[in-house]
Amino acid sequence: MTDMSDIRREYQLGELHRKQLADSPHTQFDHWFQQSVNSDLIKDPTAMTLSTVSPDGYPTGRTVLLKGHDEAGFRFFTNFTSDKAEDINFNANVSLLFAWLPLERQIIISGTAYQLTREENEAYFHSRPRASQLAAWSSFQSAMAQDRSELDLRFDALSREFEGKEVPCPEFWGGYCIEAHSLEFWQGRSERLHDRFRYTRTENGWHLARYNP
Ligand SMILES: Cc1cc2nc3c(=O)[nH]c(=O)nc-3n(C[C@H](O)[C@H](O)[C@H](O)COP(=O)(O)O)c2cc1C
Repeated sequence: MTDMSDIRREYQLGELHRKQLADSPHTQFDHWFQQSVNSDLIKDPTAMTLSTVSPDGYPTGRTVLLKGHDEAGFRFFTNFTSDKAEDINFNANVSLLFAWLPLERQIIISGTAYQLTREENEAYFHSRPRASQLAAWSSFQSAMAQDRSELDLRFDALSREFEGKEVPCPEFWGGYCIEAHSLEFWQGRSERLHDRFRYTRTENGWHLARYNP
């Protein structure tokens, strides 16, 4: 057994109090997100773990990149034939997790995914670097591959096919927006007595409560 029992540290960078928290969890998210960006401590502040559940009941988490956030939700882009998209087709309830550990912070979001419109997909697709556009066409995301050259050959063939032309947005590629039902903000504290606040959507707006760590 590899023993990790001695790897531990105290969390003491900050504290979270109810009076510091915005009325809207989306405002609070923007506030923490901006602090993550400004801190220069988080290399990939948009990286989040998206968890979905497969039709046979197994959860899977994987990293995706946040590409937009507002009161409507959290947006990311992917391949609509991927495993995650198959899971979402079956069960649109998902979780997002941001682990901003250098700031001793975590945000967990529960919500429901819905697909963005074709116009929104095209607008974002055409804003991406050309190589990323070709990569979207080249990858049969989540399918088993024989070897690396299969992928490289497809990329080269598509580069030639679209040479001098605009790369169209594939029908099988686009975005989801996660409409949040709950958002939890966690700030590490010393002696493992961390601060934890959760906003839950109710008929009368957001309900905010402290939870035990
Ligand atoms: C830093 C990082 C960023 C990633 N961003 C995305 C992304 O925005 N969209 C995406 O589909 N996959 C992204 N991936 C790849 C996914 O983690 C995953 O491997 C892929 O989407 C296939 O997942 P699935 O088979 O569970 O559907 C990223 C991986 C990493 C490590």
